[in-house]
Amino acid sequence: MPLHPEAQILNDLIDQEHPSLGKALSSFGRRVYAPKGIPFQAQQAAGCKVNATIGQITDGKGQPLPLDRLAGLMKDLPQKDVFLYSPIQGRERCRTLWKNKLIAEDIRFSTLSLPGVSLGICHALAMATDLFFERGDTLVVPDLYWDNYDQIFEVRHEARMVHYPFYDGTTFNIKGLKQVLDEVSGKVHVLLNFPNNPTGFSPTLNEIKQISDLLVSAAEKRIVVVYCDDAYHGLVFEPNATTQSLFFELIDRHPNLIALKADGVTKELSFFGGRVGFLSLGLSGPVGQYLNEKICGLVRGSVGSPVGISQFLSEEELLDPQHESSFQNLKSILEKRYRVLQAGLSQGSPFWTPLPFNSGCFCLLQLKPGLEAEKVRQQLIKDESVGVVSHLDRYLRIAFCSMTEEDISILLQALHRTCEKMEISRF
Ligand SMILES: Cc1ncc(COP(=O)(O)O)c(C=O)c1O
Repeated sequence: MPLHPEAQILNDLIDQEHPSLGKALSSFGRRVYAPKGIPFQAQQAAGCKVNATIGQITDGKGQPLPLDRLAGLMKDLPQKDVFLYSPIQGRERCRTLWKNKLIAEDIRFSTLSLPGVSLGICHALAMATDLFFERGDTLVVPDLYWDNYDQIFEVRHEARMVHYPFYDGTTFNIKGLKQVLDEVSGKVHVLLNFPNNPTGFSPTLNEIKQISDLLVSAAEKRIVVVYCDDAYHGLVFEPNATTQSLFFELIDRHPNLIALKADGVTKELSFFGGRVGFLSLGLSGPVGQYLNEKICGLVRGSVGSPVGISQFLSEEELLDPQHESSFQNLKSILEKRYRVLQAGLSQGSPFWTPLPFNSGCFCLLQLKPGLEAEKVRQQLIKDESVGVVSHLDRYLRIAFCSMTEEDISILLQALHRTCEKMEISRF
């Protein structure tokens, strides 16, 4: 299929500015461009006396005409911000506030473009893979990973998933990552998610630096696309585990190293239904803007435009002088649950071993041989009215983020009883 002239122009700019980025794009990624269609033309006409461009219903003077109940519910909010379309690239204020937040975390972000806006982090990852993942490419990801990567990489792009054990003793397995990277030749994709789902583990800052050095050396002779899934950023409960994103350590480190950061308001602002995510590219210069144009094309061709009201509400949260203390309050609620769970697990069990965890929302229990995770999960619902997630054949994931402190010991006791009964019935 011939490229649209706009896509060709955009690709030429990318190829000239950063040849490896041009090479890293998938064939779909190369076809995508920001169309100069209705939203673009409407934006250009935004200051006109009469604006007969976009199909949104207004009073003719730029104000929305909402229905009564909706208007009533949102009467304290600026009507234009909540009822009219967001720009395709996302609201400038939202992107700027998020960028400022990331600069405050690490000054290296200041050289990058504004992040692109998505409908949640999952969508940011899906767009990243649309841009860079060619059908059948290899994804390197630990053996314990968020199961939705199967949908994003394997189902959508027929990824060849290559795994390594997540842990090396009590910490993240950097050697294992190195070993698989050494074994895979040619363009490779690497996904890293800290704090991690499902393990609830974050490495130390020193380990993050080691991982980044490893990725840089892996990019010496081929393209390495790194997806930093920072969904649980900030939720770290032990002083030696870092809150620092790996992404910052990858910015502008090597032309062949295409680092991408997917993050958003879902957990960081505890705004799960808001569906605001961000996708950032770890290369400074105009390529960041070029990639944002590609993101506009993807948004336009899939969800149409990002969610305006959620962006507006997220901006207000970020601007609130109490925002930081409010987040710390939330974190301390989780931290108390984390400590209660750690204490409960430290008593030991004949039926499971907890894997090391220090952050995030989850912990993973490895069941002793003979106990099947899925069977235990089902029995636990039936006998004890307790829900956990079975992961692979021998792990149970406990989401301590959604339990009261009191319920944690109830869960552990219920799990003990269930495992005991299942053990007895085996013999
Ligand atoms: C590791 C990880 N990444 C991404 C997401 C998706 O976030 P969102 O709900 O913003 O799409 C989740 C949500 O569970 C997650 O656990």
